[in-house]
Amino acid sequence: MQVIDSIAQLQETLRAERAKGKRIGLVPTMGALHEGHASLVRRSVQENDITVVSIFLNPTQFNDPKDLERYPRTLDSDCAVLEECGAQIAFAPSVKEIYPEPDTRHFSYPPTDTVMEGARRPGHFNGVCQIVSKLFMMTDPDRAYFGEKDYQQIAVIRRMVADLGFRVEIVPCPVIREASGLAMSSRNTLLAPEEKAIAPSIYRILSESKSQNLGVADTEQWVIDQLNSIPGLEVEYYNIVNGDTLANVTAWDEADSIVGCITVYCGKTPIRLIDHIRYK
Ligand code: PAF
Repeated sequence: MQVIDSIAQLQETLRAERAKGKRIGLVPTMGALHEGHASLVRRSVQENDITVVSIFLNPTQFNDPKDLERYPRTLDSDCAVLEECGAQIAFAPSVKEIYPEPDTRHFSYPPTDTVMEGARRPGHFNGVCQIVSKLFMMTDPDRAYFGEKDYQQIAVIRRMVADLGFRVEIVPCPVIREASGLAMSSRNTLLAPEEKAIAPSIYRILSESKSQNLGVADTEQWVIDQLNSIPGLEVEYYNIVNGDTLANVTAWDEADSIVGCITVYCGKTPIRLIDHIRYK
């Protein structure tokens, strides 16, 4: 596997591959790779000739500097994971390489980027669109792989792809869970053992909500009440939304695709955990 840190070298390498008719898969990551990322990389390796995995802790998508500071940085072990998965290129540029000048572009795709995470983390999805659009321009991939763990992110990126006319196919990949049911996340390494013990309740309660036979608003409230009754967990929001547009729904027959998206604070630090469940 080649580890590349310059845009020019990445583009030169990919130009040569494309000239040979090779298909390129891109897996954008911020590093601290876990089994969830590995599943995206393996899928890209299966479906493309060349898999590029970007490892870039993108500062413009962090609205909380403390969150950026404590984000795990594990480049050496990340490269070992990528080698094992069969990726051909790890692209690990510096912040200066990606942002030689501050990125002043503004992206706006309501309601996908204004609800839920968008409302609570101002500028977050703008930063995601800044880096993902740059990565798409730099690699010009045939396919790009994103974990459904960040369900809202995929909806925003789809809108951006349609808006800017990128030719890339967005490939959403299912959430990978620990045996406990906890959705795998780089942030899980920050959980203390007692926090790790209660965090799986999030997915358990979400799953149980499917068989409560309640209306939409009552299901939202049921999930919130159940989780808030567990000491150490506090729900920030639970919204049941149209799975494509992310607009709120008020009845189960309002859309063909309906998903519940949740963010929960876990423990004393606290760590923000995100998850979702599909109702239909
Ligand atoms: O999902 C992530 O890890 C990040 O938001 C992404 C897509 C790599 C952009 O920095």
